[in-house]
Amino acid sequence: MNALSEASAVETLRWRDGRLELIDQRALPARLEYASCTSAAEVAEAIRSMVVRGAPAIGCAAAFGVALEARREQHRTRAEFSAAMDAAFATLAASRPTAVNLFWALERMRSELAAHRGDAKAAAARLAEAALAIFRADLETNRAIGRAGMKHVPDGARILTHCNTGALATAGHGTALGVVRSARDAGKRISVIASETRPYLQGARLTAWELIRGRIPVTLITDNAAGHLMSRGKVDMVIVGADRIAANGDVANKIGTYPLAVLALRHRIPFYVAAPLSTIDLRTANGKAIPIEERSAAEVTGYAGARWAPEGVEVANPAFDITPAGLVSALFTERGVVKRPNAGKIRRLFKR
Ligand code: MRU
Repeated sequence: MNALSEASAVETLRWRDGRLELIDQRALPARLEYASCTSAAEVAEAIRSMVVRGAPAIGCAAAFGVALEARREQHRTRAEFSAAMDAAFATLAASRPTAVNLFWALERMRSELAAHRGDAKAAAARLAEAALAIFRADLETNRAIGRAGMKHVPDGARILTHCNTGALATAGHGTALGVVRSARDAGKRISVIASETRPYLQGARLTAWELIRGRIPVTLITDNAAGHLMSRGKVDMVIVGADRIAANGDVANKIGTYPLAVLALRHRIPFYVAAPLSTIDLRTANGKAIPIEERSAAEVTGYAGARWAPEGVEVANPAFDITPAGLVSALFTERGVVKRPNAGKIRRLFKR
């Protein structure tokens, strides 16, 4: 990390032995404050209510949720401990449906638990170590994604991104924003166009905040302005993250990603997806099989206490959409770059 990145580093999750502290992302950019969790149920609620969000950060938080529960229940009988842990896994798994990193992390934690089920205290200690390992590995993974992706970012590039994929969405550095950060740290004079990301405004509230804090030039646009800017030659590439990538390369990401990919194709602009292997779900054949979270109508009818839509209006609020693999120019991962991803190339990526 260079001096600039270090000074602006954001600690999204902090493990305080017996407590998980999370930046409460609902309060940003107005206030930087932490929420504290001491049980799996509290972590699940933090994920559900968007205190913590972004696929890798959700996975890390869930792993810590398991560790917290084991710590709380370690003095119970073997049967009670086992039942409490099963309930904790079920509660965490029900928090949000689309980001596969959540289920990936829970699966890892479950196999750690299986190896120590007979001894609750040993299990609690081991699960805390395992959660920390998942967290630390995510940071390293993001730096590797950044190194791989930045080779595709020319000096002076104007990069359009969607949602928030930075340190706030991960254990640190970020995925798509990690590529941006790595390119900047390597001395490239890049700039970012951040789409505001209706309805939850992750771009306006979180990406703009992170980039200003990291002293990376950023211009905020409405989601509707992307096509106009592309048509005027003001976007050199699009880089987004992912919540789940199916075995054939279809990408689930924040609602509004798919239209950006269509626009990018129309304007011959490369459309890149930056994501760790933990986001690739080989058990899901294609995008149609990815569950899409439907969020509350209140996110669309107003914001922060203000309501602009009439009472009684029907609302649809899908939180993610699917970008077909055919629209993806390349996938940036910690194992390198996959150009024009498809099922065969993704299978081979796991063997690299
Ligand atoms: O609803 P959110 O804010 O959790 O959605 C986040 C995204 O869609 C991100 O693009 C994705 O999780 C990748 S984050 C590195």
